[in-house]
Amino acid sequence: MAPIGAGAGAPHSRIMGVGAYRPSRIVPNSEVVDAIDSSDEWIQQRSGIKQRRFATDEETIQMMSVASSRIAIERAGITPDQIDCVLVATVSHLLQTPAIAPAIATELGTEHAAAFDISAACAGFCHGVALGSDMVRGGSARHVLVIGVERLSDITDMTDRGTAFIFADGAGAVVIGPSQTPGIGPVVWGSDGEQYDLIRQREDWRDVVGSDDSPGSGVMPHLTMQGNPVFRWASFTMAKVALEALDAAGVTAADLDVFVPHQANMRIIDAMARSMKLPEHVRIARDVAEQGNTSAASVPLALDRMIEEGDARSGDTALLIAFGAGLAYAAQVVTVP
Ligand code: UT7
Repeated sequence: MAPIGAGAGAPHSRIMGVGAYRPSRIVPNSEVVDAIDSSDEWIQQRSGIKQRRFATDEETIQMMSVASSRIAIERAGITPDQIDCVLVATVSHLLQTPAIAPAIATELGTEHAAAFDISAACAGFCHGVALGSDMVRGGSARHVLVIGVERLSDITDMTDRGTAFIFADGAGAVVIGPSQTPGIGPVVWGSDGEQYDLIRQREDWRDVVGSDDSPGSGVMPHLTMQGNPVFRWASFTMAKVALEALDAAGVTAADLDVFVPHQANMRIIDAMARSMKLPEHVRIARDVAEQGNTSAASVPLALDRMIEEGDARSGDTALLIAFGAGLAYAAQVVTVP
């Protein structure tokens, strides 16, 4: 048996830079209420959402990804040719194959970086941070670009009362690289396929196209969500997962400076913070009010806003958690770059 070289990774990993792209078109609640017989007041009360942003035709998945990544790469102090792997978390790239990641890696000017998409819905970005961190420590990449990007407006039925006012578009990116001290804690992640149907694409492509036996629907297979069960699962089960991520990193809620949960609903964010008994001094991301629920993009967008507004400072200890369709979830403690 020939001995196989083990390869050498960095002692630890860290987030080196964060970037974001927010689409140009702001869509206030007043623009979505008529089609769903709702009101600005109901939407704000039940979700905390005041407005969201929808991408224009030019603001494609690739364009928004590249724009947010260029900022993250510049802030990380590296150049695109130093990126060894590009991970793109998304559920709204409308081509079944190939993944969008290779096109983004090439436009950015990486030198043939490994590139693939992650399908873990709203939890995809935190899955990407976990994978990127392990790659850097395992030696399969020195720098990993992790992007969360969505154009949910393309796959949302604007007449569906349960989803039309929630989902939105945008992109956020981080560069993960080597570190002498731990900058990304162990991931706590998992899934629950017993709740597979709570958030899902309404039907698969065969049902859209049809067959000899049955005609297809011929309409875009939009996202569907049973909001209330998801709400209860997120508010209670996810608070426990968040506390497990603190434990895994060897920190307590008192050590935290910043909490960046998935931006699904302001009431879920508040319920989690209460249930975790977060101390007053912990600053909490509330990007959902301005941005809506951008699925895989929500955590990096929210982190970026906190950094931009001075609520998250370099060296701060932050807890990230994201959860959604699958159901899938992932959480980790990170140091703010
Ligand atoms: O990102 C992936 C993870 N996603 C989430 O975490 C989202 C989780 N879910 C939610 O955020 C919430 O469930 C929603 C914001 C979607 C809905 O809030 P809710 O408090 O769960 O409302 P509900 O579905 O229980 O409906 C309450 C009432 C119902 O009326 P009755 O039966 O009490 O008379 C609905 O018919 O609100 C009514 N309703 C609406 N009214 C005005 C439902 N949708 C609407 C609407 N506008 N759009």
